[in-house]
Amino acid sequence: MNVVAAYTGTFDPITYGHIDVVERAARMFSKLIVAIAFSEAKRPLFLLEDRIELARASVSHLPNVEVQGFRGLVVDFAVEHDVSVVVRGVRNVTDFDVEKQMAVMNRHLAAHVDTVMLAPSPTYAHISSTLVREIARMGGSVEGLVHPQVARELEQAVKRAR
Ligand code: COA
Repeated sequence: MNVVAAYTGTFDPITYGHIDVVERAARMFSKLIVAIAFSEAKRPLFLLEDRIELARASVSHLPNVEVQGFRGLVVDFAVEHDVSVVVRGVRNVTDFDVEKQMAVMNRHLAAHVDTVMLAPSPTYAHISSTLVREIARMGGSVEGLVHPQVARELEQAVKRAR
């Protein structure tokens, strides 16, 4: 079946934990769109355009994956891009409670959009974008947590923010 899926999130910035989910989902669907939310309320460190560029660099090894930014509702993005499955990574029970609520709400808004939750590798279960940004701000090494280009851009972004 020709199923298009979207892996949604803020990706501020994309980490190896996210890439692990992307690689798993890319094997399951004909096409996977990494859909990066503007997420104004989270006041991201990186502009949407920069988050898109960093995600593109991180997933360039996967031919059936593309990266798009979006503003507004996930379901509107889904309708616009023929997406029938939303992919989310679920690391623990706390994630699951939130994800279940969002999955049901998205299905309420668009009955043809289902959510598939993937359990990422335990190797990455401790990673979050907030922690990665915090480590970079405090001068720690983010090697092994993010793609090398993301690490370089993080260093620059942190310097600019000082
Ligand atoms: N590995 C490592 N970290 C992961 C991860 C994984 N597999 N999966 C998620 N995370 C981290 C993220 O880095 C993020 O960390 P942070 O909070 O420190 O930044 C955290 O888990 C939460 O990420 P996520 O669950 O993707 O939330 P988000 O805020 O980045 O994205 C949206 C949420 C954008 C998908 C959601 O708000 C949305 O759909 N917005 C659009 C508006 C809409 O449609 N609203 C109605 C929804 S019902």
